[in-house]
Amino acid sequence: MSEKATTDVNEAGIAVHWQEEEYVHPTTDFIAQANMTDPTIHDQFGLDKFPNCFKQYADLLDWYEYWHTTLDTSDAPCWKWFVGGKLNVSYNCVDRHLADNKNKAAIIYAPEPESEDHLVLTYQELYVRVNETAALLQDFCGLKHGDRVTIHMPMVPELPITMLACARLGVIHSVVFGGFSGKACGERIADSGSNVLITMDSYYRNGKLLDHKVKADEAVAIANEEGQEVDKVLVWQRYRDKYNSETPMVDGRDYFTYDVLKEYRGKRIDPVWVPAEDPLFLMYTSGTTGKPKGCQHSTGGYLAYAAGTSKYIQDIHPEDVYWCMADIGWITGHSYIVYGPLTLGATTVMFEGVPVYPDPGRAWRIAEQLDVNIFHTAPTTIRMLRKVGPDEPAKYNYKFKHMTTVGEPIEPEVWRWYHKVVGRGEAAIVDTWWQTETGGFLCSTVPGLEPMKPGSAGPAVPGIHPIIYDDDGKEVGAGGGAGNICIQNPWPGAFQTIWGDRDRYVTNYYARYNTNPDSKDWRDWPYLTGDAATLSEDGYYRILGRIDDVINVSGHRLGTKEIESAGLVVQEVAESAVVSMADELKGVVPDLYVSLKPGYEANDALKKKIIDAVIREIGPIAKPAHVHIVRDMPKTRSGKIMRRVLSAISNGKDTGDVTTLANPDIVEEIQKMVQGG
Ligand code: PRX
Repeated sequence: MSEKATTDVNEAGIAVHWQEEEYVHPTTDFIAQANMTDPTIHDQFGLDKFPNCFKQYADLLDWYEYWHTTLDTSDAPCWKWFVGGKLNVSYNCVDRHLADNKNKAAIIYAPEPESEDHLVLTYQELYVRVNETAALLQDFCGLKHGDRVTIHMPMVPELPITMLACARLGVIHSVVFGGFSGKACGERIADSGSNVLITMDSYYRNGKLLDHKVKADEAVAIANEEGQEVDKVLVWQRYRDKYNSETPMVDGRDYFTYDVLKEYRGKRIDPVWVPAEDPLFLMYTSGTTGKPKGCQHSTGGYLAYAAGTSKYIQDIHPEDVYWCMADIGWITGHSYIVYGPLTLGATTVMFEGVPVYPDPGRAWRIAEQLDVNIFHTAPTTIRMLRKVGPDEPAKYNYKFKHMTTVGEPIEPEVWRWYHKVVGRGEAAIVDTWWQTETGGFLCSTVPGLEPMKPGSAGPAVPGIHPIIYDDDGKEVGAGGGAGNICIQNPWPGAFQTIWGDRDRYVTNYYARYNTNPDSKDWRDWPYLTGDAATLSEDGYYRILGRIDDVINVSGHRLGTKEIESAGLVVQEVAESAVVSMADELKGVVPDLYVSLKPGYEANDALKKKIIDAVIREIGPIAKPAHVHIVRDMPKTRSGKIMRRVLSAISNGKDTGDVTTLANPDIVEEIQKMVQGG
């Protein structure tokens, strides 16, 4: 969420021109097997039943001590859920499945090189490895309940093993996305006060074995500069008997985890039963400005919410093979690769690499080979898969019953390709809208119950009660245009605070529409999501993007996504991104960047076709000043298009530091093209 979000919401009367799409209904086969088909579910989770309705989710867990108070608001807006309860997350994700399912696959790991076999960890094997690792963390590193540990690792099975080992001890983990730099990691080590860093020597990406340990040295140095000593660095190895990094191991600080683990073979650690409201993990959100914020997530509330939404929205059954292609270093991976699926005793697939390496069929080969039936990814990946291999899915023999899209609004054109080509027109799709801060889904259709509508996330999920406010705090009703979408009520998955900065938590997320800062009543504390949204008459929400992603053209606010979506209607276009460009007369005008599907050439006729499409889809108000046809978009390592960089180029400003992008070279190329010279 942007630092500006709480102040930069002074636009009323937003004009929305994105047309409503037709419903697409789930198949009868899907409905027949769905976990949730009870039409009264939303009533069961109505505001009149709040907060006790969430008992349903809490009861998906095993409690060491059952809780007595569903929601304690005495420290509003820091909510405490399931107070009095005690539980352990690793017990819920692992131990409790052993009695009936110890030989079942818990995690299936697909390494990037296809020459390497998949690795299957049964629940029993996971149990053994989590216990041994927990013993090491406790006895070798001296870690105990309440300590923080920073984990900077790529997509390898040792990552969830380490997270679960922390959870077993009640140690708070802070996983930093493996693609982040050493510097970013160091800042997060310092902020969380971790004195142990857990890292990896190397990993594969795009066919190359990358040196990862080198980042640990930088991270430790940065943490030291910020006053945080790191006593131990544990280094997992991609290949147990080799060290694939250029950097030397530092004597007395760096240890190969597999070497030390030999001391702990066969060790078992009793799960530490922690209070439900104890923190389970921190997840930093990286704003472009300001210090990263450590979102603190709870144990009982978070796990209950991850489990409940995994069951009813992801429709995970114990016998499913579920593959979420996100990285565990993001909240999606925490909730919907690790904690949700494992709590439910499902089989969760992890993939090390890039879905289009070595060729556009890679993702579908994994799906075929593992017989994946639930597939979860993001619009950016869907667009990429569509761009490089639009006909590829048809060549493979897999069958998805359910698919997810998350992270950005998805353009109806892209949605339809996902549904028709990837899902063979049979898979139910959920467009799940949520955030790092929210722990789990906020809006989505309940897939066995509600029809899909391309481009709309859907109604709120059970127990979530959104409200859209204008800048004066007046409710914007259904059909009333766009405003700032807030959530009226707390829910168990919501983060508890910003680590070490309660004031910032209150100011950024709760102060905007609060009228009585002393109130202990949750009704006085709507949660500000920082997104703009519209509500249509049928109760479906359409997320327009961040409040600061909205372009105001001559007093008409247009969601950037609307314009981008219009560009994508053009058959040749693979990706589109719009930024606002300063204009003397109109204030700002949209400037459109597009990349093409393979085999198409940039030319003026195509540019005109794209402009015409935007005018046709939205109206002349949205006409882009230019259409820049680029070879590729500047992207973050997690694949998000960097509109900030494009905006700097359009406006002739400094692009800032672009070295952390996945493809920094493209920036100069686009700059030359747009600015000449
Ligand atoms: O703007 C919304 C967008 O992503 C933001 C949250 O990003 P992050 O904390 O990184 O979490 C991503 C994974 C949940 C939101 O404020 N967003 C997320 N999901 C959607 C979305 N926008 C539209 N549709 C979605 N399904």
